[in-house]
Amino acid sequence: MNNPTIQDIKARYHIVGRDEKLERALDTALQVARTDLSVLIQGESGVGKEIIPRIIHDQSPRKRGRYIAINCGSIPEGTIDSELFGHERGSYTGAIDEREGYFGAADGGTLFLDEVGELPMTTQARLLRVLETGEYIRVGSDQPRKTDVRIVAATNVDIPSAIREGRFREDLYYRLCTINIKMPPLRERGIDSVLLFKMFAMDTAQQYRIPEPIRLNAEAEQVVMTYKWPGNIRQLKNIVQNLSIMERGVQITPAILERYGIVAGQGESHSLRRISGRGSEGGMHDYENEIKWLMGAVLQLRKEVEALKATYHMGSHERHAPLQIEDHSYQPAVQEYTQSEPDTPVETTEPQHIVIQTSTPGPQRTDYDDAYEVTIDDSLNLEEMERRNIILALQKTHNRRKAAAQLLGISERTLFRKIKDYGIEE
Ligand SMILES: Nc1ncnc2c1ncn2[C@@H]1O[C@H](COP(=O)(O)OP(=O)(O)OP(=O)(O)O)[C@@H](O)[C@H]1O
Ligand SMILES: [Mg+2]
Repeated sequence: MNNPTIQDIKARYHIVGRDEKLERALDTALQVARTDLSVLIQGESGVGKEIIPRIIHDQSPRKRGRYIAINCGSIPEGTIDSELFGHERGSYTGAIDEREGYFGAADGGTLFLDEVGELPMTTQARLLRVLETGEYIRVGSDQPRKTDVRIVAATNVDIPSAIREGRFREDLYYRLCTINIKMPPLRERGIDSVLLFKMFAMDTAQQYRIPEPIRLNAEAEQVVMTYKWPGNIRQLKNIVQNLSIMERGVQITPAILERYGIVAGQGESHSLRRISGRGSEGGMHDYENEIKWLMGAVLQLRKEVEALKATYHMGSHERHAPLQIEDHSYQPAVQEYTQSEPDTPVETTEPQHIVIQTSTPGPQRTDYDDAYEVTIDDSLNLEEMERRNIILALQKTHNRRKAAAQLLGISERTLFRKIKDYGIEE
């Protein structure tokens, strides 16, 4: 894409919203993509920070290089230096082979350090060195190695308060945030919450073959716009999925929203959380509660879908593919993205973390700003849904066609034909 506009970016990455602060964030991402400057993305949990580094990488001269996303908070303190910077053979007990490390692997590409506020102090010192000199040293080595990596970091913790508490290096902070991108909380984005609601309602209806997406009545729109959304877009998405499955075909009123805890003006917000150290209790309270709440909601949704699946199976055996749920609740520590296969996560084994390869989002719908007015080519979407269901079934059954056919409720022969028709690689 030559000099894409903000509208192009929104369409390509399915970003919904008209809010000025959101547009400023996207514009900064576009401007900074051409440079090699480090970027720090700040924003509360669930605001959608993770799309920004992807945009920066794709629009940069490094786009043909590797894009590796690392969740710093989920790598154990004992191995994080070796994972990031590599190690020499025998550098510590259990280091049987040498390891390149992500800084070496991402040479010529982009490294996204998610939850950078969780990095231990020793790792912060190593990171500062790479940022200052372009050199790093493997664990157990004294040989500096060169790497040409562009760093984009993200955090939902308040780094200045972490600096005051002695948990984050001030010099690293200034190095990282040469460019600072602030993602606004949903409660400050006005009508965007309603637009996002509509998009998620459409997506969920498509995914679970619900004939009519749920709709908000005028009063309910006001509730959605004035609720504080402490879990931001992640929470909104979750609620819409719950509502779509439980209240299908129904117009959503304030009374229904209230049953799901969504009440005008309410929803305690907790801005950027204060850092409290890896694994310690104090200060993590809000964050942990939010995670617990989200996990509960995900589990409940799964149960509901499983129940629906059972009912569905009883009524129609050979005719349709069953409902499928895509589980996005698990975030691997490391994700590597290439520009290869469309939407088919390929898992390869790594000792502790999973490397997932996915494509960049392709252009699909172009006008989410008026999501509810978009007309959909049903035939295409049904095909796409069927293709995805088949891929999922094959993944779940480790490419055993008989089992996949059973899961899909079709004959093995039909599955074989569809695999060929859709050009699905097993
Ligand atoms: N503009 C958008 N359109 C559609 N979905 C979005 C958008 N922005 C975010 N989401 C969805 O919202 C959820 C939260 O986004 P994301 O994971 O980027 O949050 P985050 O800011 O990284 O939060 P955390 O700090 O907790 O990691 C994801 O499921 C993502 O797909
Ligand atoms: Mg995140």
